[in-house]
Amino acid sequence: MQGNFVYNNPTKLYFGEDAMKHLTKELAGYGPTVMLSYGGGSIKKNGVYDAVVAALKEAGKTVVEDPGVMPNPTVEKLYEGCKLVRDNNVDLILAVGGGSTIDYAKGVSASAWCEEDPWEKYYVNQGWPSCKIVPVGAVLTMVGTGSEMNGGSVITNHKAGFKIGKVFGSNVFPKFTILNPRFTMTVPQYQMVAGFFDIMSHIMEQYFAGTGDYTTDYIAEGLMRSLIHSSRIAVKNPQDYEARANIMWTATWALNTLLKCGKPGDWEVHMIGQAMGAVTDATHGMTLATVSRPYYRHIMRDGLPKFVRFAQNVWGVRPEGKSDGQVAAEGLDCLEGWMREIGVVMHSKELGVNEENIPAIADATFLLDGGYRTLTRDEVIDILRQSM
Ligand code: NZQ
Ligand code: ZN
Repeated sequence: MQGNFVYNNPTKLYFGEDAMKHLTKELAGYGPTVMLSYGGGSIKKNGVYDAVVAALKEAGKTVVEDPGVMPNPTVEKLYEGCKLVRDNNVDLILAVGGGSTIDYAKGVSASAWCEEDPWEKYYVNQGWPSCKIVPVGAVLTMVGTGSEMNGGSVITNHKAGFKIGKVFGSNVFPKFTILNPRFTMTVPQYQMVAGFFDIMSHIMEQYFAGTGDYTTDYIAEGLMRSLIHSSRIAVKNPQDYEARANIMWTATWALNTLLKCGKPGDWEVHMIGQAMGAVTDATHGMTLATVSRPYYRHIMRDGLPKFVRFAQNVWGVRPEGKSDGQVAAEGLDCLEGWMREIGVVMHSKELGVNEENIPAIADATFLLDGGYRTLTRDEVIDILRQSM
């Protein structure tokens, strides 16, 4: 049954090829100093940087440059960003990039004016901001994480061996996000495909939980079907605007707080994937792909009716003359077939997982109880072995 919930998503979206033309006007609502945060330089090659700087100039802003946000942003970079904000009394953090840059910007937003150590306060202890929050705006250049319209901020601490996500409240969500599908066209195929699987995983994490009849599960099925359809087009022709635009929109809805309304969620694939990321620094979406393959086979019997429904409603598996177990397994075969078709990494040994580092990954995995089965550490080790 639908449970109780409060729904409030304050992020304003500007979507489409003309989305950037709104940036100057949007910037007028914030103070004079803007920190421009971005990654390793892709935005300088594809013209997005120039377009953003032109809007900042037109709006008369003083720009504080903050380059070098790495994929899987680190706690050291977070501290660096906090200092930049304080030293320059920044009024707005404008994050231009993928999930890593936006996640990092949210971490800085809630930490810059905070006395305590942010790693301990937010990520280890999952505390809440009690200091001034610096507003964040975003220009998205790579789809997958949903960071453009949620409170998620995932930070990696290599010394501690953990990659931990904090889901901040709506006061830390981006105030606005520019979503221009054209900006995503230069994403390398490997990252593009990893992003596609990340979207699928976000939907499945929320779909494979709960035993009631939830409206959001029907929405989830529609989103998955749209993603499967458009991803098949996009891998063959990454320049197909319609497919890339649909995928961008699907990614946002996959993780912008809608699908979780009034129902439990699983998120164990993400827990194992993030632990794998902490140890190997592998690309997020690829870690999820290698874990999903054995994980869903492992829990299939515990949530059988939902896996049957997944097979029929998402993949069109015909149930006639088959047992529920056969139908469910066929659905997972279809999922794997699609994964191969779009070209995700199927084996975690290609990401740096080996017998030696499996115990460390298992130790860094949080065990959650929202899905169809609560894993033990031994089961995590089994799944990791099968993922290789
Ligand atoms: O750094 P640059 O040079 O910009 O290159 C990036 C990076 O190397 C490149 N890229 C991005 N846009 C591009 C482009 N290259 C060419 N053209 C473009 N238009 O792509 C690479 C990957 O970027 P990144 O931001 O790391 O990827 P993604 O968006 O997948 O973000 C991954 C991070 O988000 C976290 C992950 O754990 C990971 O740390 N997540 C955040 C979530 C959230 N906020 O809710 C949920 C997710 O489950 C996820 O955990
Ligand atoms: Zn994810």
